[in-house]
Formats: sequence, structure tokens, C-alpha cells
Amino acid sequence: MTDFSMLGLAPALLEALARTGKDQPTPIQARAIPPLMEGRDLLGMAQTGTGKTLAFGLPILHRLAGQGRAAPKSARALILAPTRELVQQISEALGALAQGTPTSIITVVGGASINRQIDKLARGCDILVATPGRLIDLLERASVSLNKVQMLVLDEADQMLDLGFIHALRKIARHLPKERQTMLFSATMPKQLGEIAETYLDHPVRVQVAPPGKAADKIEQAVHFVSQGDKAKLLEEYLRRHPDESALVFGRTKHGSEKLAKLLAGWGFSVGSIHGNKSQGQRERTLAAFRAGETRVLVATDVAARGLDIPLVAHVYNYELPNVPENYIHRIGRTARAGREGRAVAFCSPAEMADLKAIEALTKQRIEVIGGEPWSDAMSDAARAKAKAETAQNRGQRPSGARPSARGATKPGGQAAVKARGPSSEGGAKAAKPAKPRVHPAYAEAMGKSKGGARRRPAPRRSDG
Ligand SMILES: Nc1ncnc2c1ncn2[C@@H]1O[C@H](COP(=O)(O)OP(=O)(O)OP(=O)(O)O)[C@@H](O)[C@H]1O
Ligand SMILES: [Mg+2]
Repeated sequence: MTDFSMLGLAPALLEALARTGKDQPTPIQARAIPPLMEGRDLLGMAQTGTGKTLAFGLPILHRLAGQGRAAPKSARALILAPTRELVQQISEALGALAQGTPTSIITVVGGASINRQIDKLARGCDILVATPGRLIDLLERASVSLNKVQMLVLDEADQMLDLGFIHALRKIARHLPKERQTMLFSATMPKQLGEIAETYLDHPVRVQVAPPGKAADKIEQAVHFVSQGDKAKLLEEYLRRHPDESALVFGRTKHGSEKLAKLLAGWGFSVGSIHGNKSQGQRERTLAAFRAGETRVLVATDVAARGLDIPLVAHVYNYELPNVPENYIHRIGRTARAGREGRAVAFCSPAEMADLKAIEALTKQRIEVIGGEPWSDAMSDAARAKAKAETAQNRGQRPSGARPSARGATKPGGQAAVKARGPSSEGGAKAAKPAKPRVHPAYAEAMGKSKGGARRRPAPRRSDG
């Protein structure tokens, strides 16, 4: 068995690992750290909650130790992640290991004071952890320069390479040196994105601990078939069964999640909600209270699906199924972290049968049924047709370009108008088939390591920064 001391890490890091209770590397750490220490580019794939953060964090901290003061406005390592909360979490995880060393870490995220970030960046730093949107703002103001970046990490790489972020990434890549070490990590990597990812890496090592799309080992998964209108009551029942345990509830829309949180609060639950309509201050306070176990239920959109490490989460409820099957893996991966156990229940309404099939196709696994009966094709077709008609009607009434408003927790429809990827809930049985490989023009130039290619319409940006 590998020991951290066999990986060639600096003594200060070994001490910090021991101090924070980590004595054995996880499989992804044992396999990714050696090639990363040699400076190789790497694509690292491992299940949720298995320590990918330190798989890239340790080699970065090792390499940066003893490099002296960073130049003003510069960074030596850049870590990009899709959400503000994940950026903060990565920074804290690395900060805990860098404690007592001169290694400096700065975070830049949207929704926080840009002036304060500009002031901090003026001194330069070793590690910059950022969401793409805010980083671009800072680059445009010339408040930071990336020309000294030696190492680049895309955490949740498949999401960062997908349409919602690729355009922003392409802009950032123009500021990065071509000579650099690039590391991509995720628990999922749809085939078409994996192929694209590799074209931006230079002779990468590919470390795959589990097949892509494999859920974390100790999650007990189940599905409960329930009509959309009966979901709130069913959720109440589940939550009351485990009164002392933390639960994360996923909805599809901001409005629907907020409405559900209010309903649960009215029923006496200690509940918070996080989604894109909340201020950054609210998001941080809510998450801190949930992390501390002060709030027992958190209702969230996919903004909380990826990367968040909250050990107390014992239950994940997919109140509405995600319309991108990979997000199911990430959502349920908020429980059963670092070898713990957890439970995940999916609430499946007739209109969501196709989403369920897409999830089962991805995970190559049947999810155990613990309530209700699978909806017939006729029922699910009728429900989808109804949802489709309602969506079309909503679109007709909307000013062009606006997102359709969700109509509360009781409607499965009302998804965002711009869907980055994945089978549509209207896609019927087709949704279960793997999508055709698809190359977005923006990929061609992305990451500055591509061989060039055609340019067409820019992708919409899924901004969280
Ligand atoms: N070697 C280790 N020994 C014990 N615990 C560890 C070790 N490495 C990481 N952990 C802990 O495991 C938890 C999950 O780690 P991390 O958040 O890096 O997972 P991840 O693989 O990035 O998951 P996700 O795919 O959800 O982002 C964290 O609480 C972390 O502190
Ligand atoms: Mg992670």
C-alpha cells in the first residue's frame, strides 16, 4: 500500500497531512500525484468524494514551496472551478495544508467586492482559485496577469469544457502561457468531452480509478415513483423519518427550489436554500449553517451539485431529476464522502421517466424501486407532451432571450431555456442513447493548446463568477 511519504512530497506537506488526519493517499491521489510531480499533464477521473482536490493540490503545493515571493499581480498556479462555493472550499482545503508556509492563496469569485480582490491581487500570489466570470473581469481590468502561470487545473473539468463555460475558458486561455502543466479532474467525463479535453493536454497521463459515470461506492440509491403534485408530501415523510440527519434536496429551478424551501419551513423544518437568485452573502451564510448542522435541510439547484464536501449530508433527495444525467452522479455524490455511507432517493414523476432512463443508461445500473410503480410509456408520453406544450406557451409569452420562469415546485417543466448539454426531458426513449459526438466550435481554440479550427457562434455562458 502506498504511503504519502512514498510520493516524494515535501516534509512540511507530510506533516500537514498528518496534522489534518490523512495518513493514506486515496487511489486517485496515489496514482495521480507521481506523474503530476514529474510535471506531466493529466486527466484524472475518480468517483465523487475520493480526494481529487488533494490529488492536484498536493503536487501544486509541493512544486510552489520555496519559489520565493510572487511578482505583483501574478499567479503561479490557476485553479478554475464552476461555482463560488467550490472555489472557496478548494482554497480552504489547500490553505489548511499550506498553513505555516509562505505559500499564498487568493480566491476570486463573483458576487464579492472586486476592489478588495484587486487589492489582494496587487501583491501577487502563488495559487489563484477562481470562477471564470470574475477572473475575466479582472483580466479585462488588467488587475491580474496570467503569464507566469506554471500550472492550470480545471476542477469539474467536463463542466468547465462544456458549452456553459467553454467560451469563458477560451478567453482565459489566451492569457495563459503555452508552456504549462495542465490538470483536468472530474467524476464524470462524457465521451465527447473527454476526447476534446485530451486535445488540449500535452501528452497527458490518463488516470481512471473507476469507469466514468460510476457513483460513489457507499451510496444506497433508490427511486420512488410519485406524481409531481404529491412530491412535497412525500419529501416531508422522508425528512420526518430521519429527523436528526442532514439532507440535501435538489430542485431544477431557482424559483421552484425557493418555493419548496418556504413550504418546508412552513411545515416546521429547519431549512435553507441556495440558488442563483440568492446574494453571495446569503449563499455563504446558508451554506455555513448547513455545514455546521444548524440547518438540517438544504434545498438547492445544480449550483450545489458539484464538488461540495459536506460530511454531514446523509441523504440526497432528487426532488426533481436532473436533465443532464451526469449531474445525477454529482448530486448524489454530496453524500457518502471519504468512505462514509449515504442514501439517495430520486422522486420520479411521469414526465421524468426519460431522465431516469438516461441516468440508468449512464450508470449502467438499475436503481432500486422503493415506492410507487414505474409510469407507463403512455403516461410519461402524455406528461411530456403536456410539459412541452406548457413550455412552448411560456416561450410565446416571454420577451425574446429571457429564460422561461419556473412555475414552482409542482411543475417539472420550466427548465432553463439554454441547456448546456444532455438529453432533453422531452427526448423520450432517445434520451437513454449516448449523444452523438459533438464538437462545439469554441473548443477549437480553447485552452490554447488546440490545433485550431473553425469558429462559429459563441456558446452561451453559464455564469457563476
Ligand atoms: N487521503 C485522504 N485521507 C482521508 N480523507 C481524505 C483524503 N483525501 C481527501 N480526504 C477527504 O475526503 C473528502 C472528499 O475529498 P474531495 O472533496 O477532494 O473529493 P472529490 O473527489 O473532489 O469529490 P467531488 O467529485 O465530489 O468533487 C474531503 O473531506 C477530504 O478532506
Ligand atoms: Mg472535487
